[in-house]
Formats: sequence, C-alpha cells, structure tokens
Amino acid sequence: MIDLRSDTVTRPTAAMRKAMAEAEVGDDVYGEDPTVRRLETKVAELLAKEAALFVPTGTMANQVALAAQTRHGDEVIIGIGAHCWRYESGALAALAGCQTQVVGNDGRFTAADVRAAYKAEDPYGAATRVVAVENTHNAMGGIVWDRGQLTEVTAAAHALGMTTHLDGARIWNAAVAGNVSERELADGFDSVSVCLSKGLGAPAGSVIAGPRDFIKKCHRLRKMYGGGMRQSGILAAAGIHALDHHRARLSEDHANAKVLAEGLAGAKGVKVLAPQTNIVMIDLERGTTAQVIERAKAQGVMLGAMRVDARVTTTEIQRIRAVVHLDVDCAAVTKAAQVIAEIAATL
Ligand SMILES: Cc1ncc(COP(=O)(O)O)c(C=O)c1O
Repeated sequence: MIDLRSDTVTRPTAAMRKAMAEAEVGDDVYGEDPTVRRLETKVAELLAKEAALFVPTGTMANQVALAAQTRHGDEVIIGIGAHCWRYESGALAALAGCQTQVVGNDGRFTAADVRAAYKAEDPYGAATRVVAVENTHNAMGGIVWDRGQLTEVTAAAHALGMTTHLDGARIWNAAVAGNVSERELADGFDSVSVCLSKGLGAPAGSVIAGPRDFIKKCHRLRKMYGGGMRQSGILAAAGIHALDHHRARLSEDHANAKVLAEGLAGAKGVKVLAPQTNIVMIDLERGTTAQVIERAKAQGVMLGAMRVDARVTTTEIQRIRAVVHLDVDCAAVTKAAQVIAEIAATL
C-alpha cells in the first residue's frame, strides 16, 4: 500500500527502534529521565530558546503553550485553517477558554491584519493576547511563510503588547525548503511547538520551547492535561534519532512531492497546486473526493480529503491531500500519480 494520507503514518526505522531499545530511561514525572532531558536540551538549542518540554502530541504542545500565555476570555489571532483552531477538537475554547479571531485567506497573514484584528483594552472586547502562526501551514498545502513577513507579524504583535506562538509541527520542512535554520524561523516567537512524529518519522512526541518561566508554567499544565509520562526516554530517543538523521532528508520528500505534482500536471479532471514542501493538494474538476479515495485505495494508494474553508473560496472545492514522507519513494509517488490520473480521467 502507498499511504499518502499523512506524514504521520511512517513506521520507525530499524535504526530508530535500536536507539529506542537502548535508551537510558527513568521516571520523567519525577524528572529522572536522562534521555528526555537530552531531547529537551537539544530542541531548546536548535530553536535558540531558554528551555523546552517534551509532550506526547502536537495538539498538547499547542494547547499547553497557548493556555500558558492566556486567561479565560482572552482572544487569539490565528490564520485560517490553523491546526490549533480547526483540528484540535475545540480545545482552545474548551480548555484555555479562549476565543479566536481568524485572519488572512491562505493560512498566512500580514502585520496589517494583526493590527486590524487587535482590540485595544476595552471592557466590551476580549483581550487580544496572542498571535499564532503555523509554518509550514498544513491545511493550505504545506505552505512556507516568507521570513520577512514573519518578522513583521511578530514585531506588530509585540508592539501591541501581545505574545507570539509558532505551531512549528513542520518547522523542519520549512527550514529545508527555505534553506534557513530552525532557529531563524523561531526567532521572534515567544513559544514554539514542534513535532517529531510528522516528517521526521518518530512514532510520537512533540516539544514546546520558550523562556524558562514559561516552560515552568507549561510543565504544570502538561500534568494537568494528563501529559506527564513515565519512562518516556524510549520516545525521546526516537525523537533524538529523528532530529539527527531525518531532517536533511526532507529535501527528498519535497522532491518527491514535485514528482507527484508533475505526474498529474497534464492529467484530465484535476488541478494540482504546486507543492512548496511535502504536501500536494489536488482539486477535482469532476466527481467527489470520496469516489477518488475509494477507487485509489482499491488500487493500493491511500489518500485523504481536505475541506476547503468557505473564506477561501465561494465555490465548493473537492480537494484531495497527498502527503509525501519517509516511507514512500520516487517510484511510489510516480505510481500514485498514474493511479490518480487514471481515476480522474474516468470520473
Ligand atoms: C500543523 C499541525 N500542528 C499540530 C498538529 C497536531 O499534532 P498531533 O497529531 O501530534 O496532536 C498537527 C497534526 O497533524 C499539525 O499538522
């Protein structure tokens, strides 16, 4: 099966499993797991932040980080389709008690959008506290933010007294695609969440990074949210291995995403959005995503459907998402393009 539903479907490599099996561990709730400490130090250094905290998932990383810098009733400015707004089960409202103000129309937004969305201290309005950015932007097709625009947005937020959060679940892809370091992309953000279980291929785990006091608050919230793990060095070892061995190779995924897109370029019945990283969005000119997904699966290719927000388009779009990762190679994406093209031509 060629599974292109997400880059989360990867299985640990033999070398990663070996690193996990050999990991030195302890009870991390007692602060005694040396491998977890190693991972946290490594990520803090990579992102040039004071401290870091290992958490089980990207959702918990975002939600703990946002809860730590807000109070119930506050507002968070967010780009359209942002994971922490759209795909985290309403946690921002349910757990942090925050409302959101969605800006921009492709996941990115400008400093002017931030200034327009900000509500000055006013008893009638929610206090606008945080600006949240997602880079790369998943729901919009692995889009990479322009660095200048990131600097303008974070500076505008700080000038208005707000803090800034980066959902960097795929910061690794953004760094490789833009040929910049992760620390440059994290610059200007008060908090950053990163995932080890997406393109990097670890089985689980995310990390929050930021100032030491902030990470202390996150630590308490992690426990409250049920994310205190015991011998989690086994997972941290997978994360360390992924950081050491799977970052640079993301350029292969990006190249394979281009091969997939090019394979569909002349195909009938589909319009492909040029991929910037490892995510390929395929819009159907006829038929439904359900039809394509079912028929592709029967031919050994697994795909996902992506909802397109009404703010992005006034006409309904049937969009397929194909995500390239560690467990698919050039031959696999070439085959997938053929399968999709054949199906689309007969819809
Ligand atoms: C951009 C982004 N942030 C956060 C998450 C959440 O990660 P998890 O599935 O580990 O909760 C995802 C998951 O796909 C994501 O794409």
